[in-house]
Amino acid sequence: MPTIPAVVDSIASVESLLAPSPADAVAAEVRAGLTSDPKTLSPWLFYDEEGSRLFEQITELPEYYLTRAERSLFTAHADEIIALAAEPSGTDPAPMLTLIELGAGTATKTGILLAAAVRRQRTVVYQPVDVSETALAEATENIRTNIPGVTVRCQVADYTTQALPLNRLPNTRTLALYIGSSIGNFSPAAARDVLRNLRAQLLPGEKLLLGTDLAPCESKTVAELEAAYNDASGVTAAFNRNVLVRLNRELGADFEPDAFEHKALWNARESRMEMHLVSQSAQKVSIPANSSGPVLRVNFKAGESIHTENSYKFTPERIRELLESAGFSLTRTWRNSEHVFAINLATAI
Ligand code: AVI
Repeated sequence: MPTIPAVVDSIASVESLLAPSPADAVAAEVRAGLTSDPKTLSPWLFYDEEGSRLFEQITELPEYYLTRAERSLFTAHADEIIALAAEPSGTDPAPMLTLIELGAGTATKTGILLAAAVRRQRTVVYQPVDVSETALAEATENIRTNIPGVTVRCQVADYTTQALPLNRLPNTRTLALYIGSSIGNFSPAAARDVLRNLRAQLLPGEKLLLGTDLAPCESKTVAELEAAYNDASGVTAAFNRNVLVRLNRELGADFEPDAFEHKALWNARESRMEMHLVSQSAQKVSIPANSSGPVLRVNFKAGESIHTENSYKFTPERIRELLESAGFSLTRTWRNSEHVFAINLATAI
């Protein structure tokens, strides 16, 4: 076991910034989504304990190329990314970098960048932000075990709605990470708002590393994209249906998950993959009364769908536009040879 020269904060010191009742938030979201036309359920509902476990499994599927592609880009370019993010500007001496990560989860790929930061400056402060306290505990443990030199300061927070509580140290510069194609799960307007919220916490010249999945092109077919969201072993289908299992458990709903078919399709007009749960027959579902309102009875026609997720896929122009609309300029993009995925380094202006 290597010794750990730097302090690694324990998860017990996590500052919880979450709203007091997640159960109310689930009930309100479900009521709004299932009474709208077309019916929707927000993708954040996927990530209960089982959903998070299934998502980890998805990232290892042969069809789900995104995680592998991004990891290989980090492996090839981590030192260069860290050097560019820490480049001295004007008369400033070369600063120490601090890394902050939005939606860090278990931070498995981030270790590659943290190790590069430790190679450059011996120690680094890492601030992962996530709504899941258990994921942050796992991230802290992984980093504690594998990368001596990292000080972890976890923040349990919803970065989509809350200002980021950045810990600024003297003579340090921040590199913000928003990786894993998470930006793709927001509508274009919401994606811009998430990045603007982040930009508001950065100083001019500080950097953002953004991971984006790419739209189909000569070397990437629609069929490959659809397979990534409809794998042969059925893990993504289980991930999608698990949202109904969650609503049965947490809200006392009476969904029959197997009465809904998992469907993943490419929407070329919107440049996004969509996931749906399609009702296999006419059926009624009820969700008992709760603090968000009276008992909810939902009728489904045969073939009617609940739209559960969008995953936007970007062209190089769209990446540049998105960054500029949020107050960043694109500094450098790395794509893998098959042009399936891109990591983009942007500068706060
Ligand atoms: C978390 N997010 C980036 C994943 C994606 O690819 O949109 C979620 C996912 N949905 C189905 N498979 C993976």
